[in-house]
Amino acid sequence: MRLLVTGGAGFIGSEFVRSTLSEHAADQVTVLDKLTYAGNLANLESVAGDTRFQFIQGDIADPAVVERALRGCDAVVNFAAETHVDRSILEPDAFVKTDVVGTWTLAEAARAARVQRFVQVSTDEVYGAVLSGASVETDRLDPTSPYSASKAGGELLVMAAVKTYGLPALVVRGANAYGPYQYPEKLIPLHITNAIDDQPLPVYGDGQQRRQWTHVADFATGIDAVLRNGVIGEIYNVGNPEPEDSLLVNLDVSRRILSLLGKSETLLQHVVDRPAHDRRYRVDASKLVALGWKPRWTFADGLEQTVRWYAEHQEWWRSIKSGETHQTYYARNYADRSAFAR
Ligand SMILES: NC(=O)c1ccc[n+]([C@@H]2O[C@H](COP(=O)([O-])OP(=O)(O)OC[C@H]3O[C@@H](n4cnc5c(N)ncnc54)[C@H](O)[C@@H]3O)[C@@H](O)[C@H]2O)c1
Repeated sequence: MRLLVTGGAGFIGSEFVRSTLSEHAADQVTVLDKLTYAGNLANLESVAGDTRFQFIQGDIADPAVVERALRGCDAVVNFAAETHVDRSILEPDAFVKTDVVGTWTLAEAARAARVQRFVQVSTDEVYGAVLSGASVETDRLDPTSPYSASKAGGELLVMAAVKTYGLPALVVRGANAYGPYQYPEKLIPLHITNAIDDQPLPVYGDGQQRRQWTHVADFATGIDAVLRNGVIGEIYNVGNPEPEDSLLVNLDVSRRILSLLGKSETLLQHVVDRPAHDRRYRVDASKLVALGWKPRWTFADGLEQTVRWYAEHQEWWRSIKSGETHQTYYARNYADRSAFAR
């Protein structure tokens, strides 16, 4: 298969590229990535010399770039997106441009190029907060943030293209991912790297939000299963099937990180909560399991591995955290939050 992977220089996209090239010897992969603040060629260093791999820098919202990148490709996996909820609250326009308009531009170009498969990577956040039970793919969408609303817009457009034009597309709704190479603004890598540096760990509100932490390697194999075995026009949830109590609420995730690093809980700092912060998400991934998906990581093992990875790859995240882009965002996002609030 010749694949176009958009957003392949990001966290999950780069894991998908690395695992595709190692698991599928006959596949070729072209990555199209704009290299926003979140894109990082260092994430693709291990495959850069592979003759089956090609990198193009460009925007999925640019029709000419997308048309060129698609030449000769059989399938597309669209990871490209603005992905951080806090940034979507500060600067929503970029989310609409990439996650809605960019997705549509890519879907239209894929239709013209007559690709055989188009996988749209979406999020469980499109369901909104789910206070009990688990979301199934037919549940109504109720996104809360500009991020989740933009992702919902993108996937609805893709599904409309399936129905209207016969685009051979599928949608994957993923739970919160964690693991190596995640940009250190999201909860787990932010708290690990702050803890390593003895900096405060900002805890939003009471820290009792619940997420279905899913290891990035399992997330990537879930997408692979949908790409190769999924039924066109269908939506598949991907999320860690472990029992809920083994996944921990956010505050306990942070405590576990501190304990793994031998740091004091005095580093925990409750700050003003994110507006409209969803309390809980959980998806039912049995439809994906029925396709043959077998997740391998428990959260306990995966968190330990992730903490170790950040401790051993400090050059990777220190260059990001010391950069102006990260520092400007961090100051802006946390400046008015320092008051203790629970
Ligand atoms: N991280 C999670 O927990 C999670 C959970 C569910 C779904 N998702 C979805 O998975 C996908 C990947 O998430 P991630 O965490 O790896 O994101 P990321 O922020 O780490 O990476 C996003 C990548 O997309 C690229 N990009 C952004 N705008 C682009 C554009 N206009 N054109 C081309 N490239 C562009 C960036 O340069 C970056 O390499 C996203 O679609 C996201 O919505 C993520």
